[in-house]
Amino acid sequence: MIRLDKYLADMGEGTRQEVKGYIRQGRVSVDGVPVRKPEYKIDERSQSVRLDEREIRYSRYEYYMLNKPAGVISAARDPSEKTVIDLITGKKRKDLFPAGRLDKDTEGLLLITNDGALAHRLLSPKYHVDKCYYAKIEGIVTEEDRQRFAEGINIGTEDNEELTAPARLEIIAADEDAGMSEIRLVIQEGKYHQVKRMFGAAGKTVLYLRRESMGALVLDKKLKPGEYRRLTDEELKSL
Ligand code: URA
Repeated sequence: MIRLDKYLADMGEGTRQEVKGYIRQGRVSVDGVPVRKPEYKIDERSQSVRLDEREIRYSRYEYYMLNKPAGVISAARDPSEKTVIDLITGKKRKDLFPAGRLDKDTEGLLLITNDGALAHRLLSPKYHVDKCYYAKIEGIVTEEDRQRFAEGINIGTEDNEELTAPARLEIIAADEDAGMSEIRLVIQEGKYHQVKRMFGAAGKTVLYLRRESMGALVLDKKLKPGEYRRLTDEELKSL
């Protein structure tokens, strides 16, 4: 059971104050009967709520796939910077957050949700969820780097070691003349700046970084940076 004003606010129909106003104005009905009390309790699974005759269905959780652009930060809110949640426009729940972080200059797959349990399962290293990144690297990535990444590389300091778990590195291209490489890297952790620090430990610099997948969830190629869409039922089941 849930309060009528919370039901409408959760579904992004307005702030709690705004929807209280709609209810008091008699614009909201439950099972066809106008209800003017914001505190009125309803069963969100079986009762039908309408605002100005428009049926508002309740969903406890929402899931969006965002192709994060460079230049926005992976936070729910921030006093000065544009966040990934600011990119979700129109009606939206107030409790959305990004499941995990990408650096401000990193692009690619980010799941935006209000489902804390799912976010935890995707992000906790204990569940070993593969996260696949594509990167352009300054320097020539070698077979030796591939082996070091496979064994685990120290991204800490000599005195204060921080070993990464085994990671799979694929060298897509290495251009000796330009001194540049393109790679794909699959890691199961999410340490701070992990990909950049792994290449830093190998004496190279990440010039461009994009996340392509997280577990079974693959970035939709149709989404340009900054665009998003809801997850399909199939994608949700796969998670
Ligand atoms: N590793 C990084 O260094 N940056 C990211 O944004 C993600 C993984």
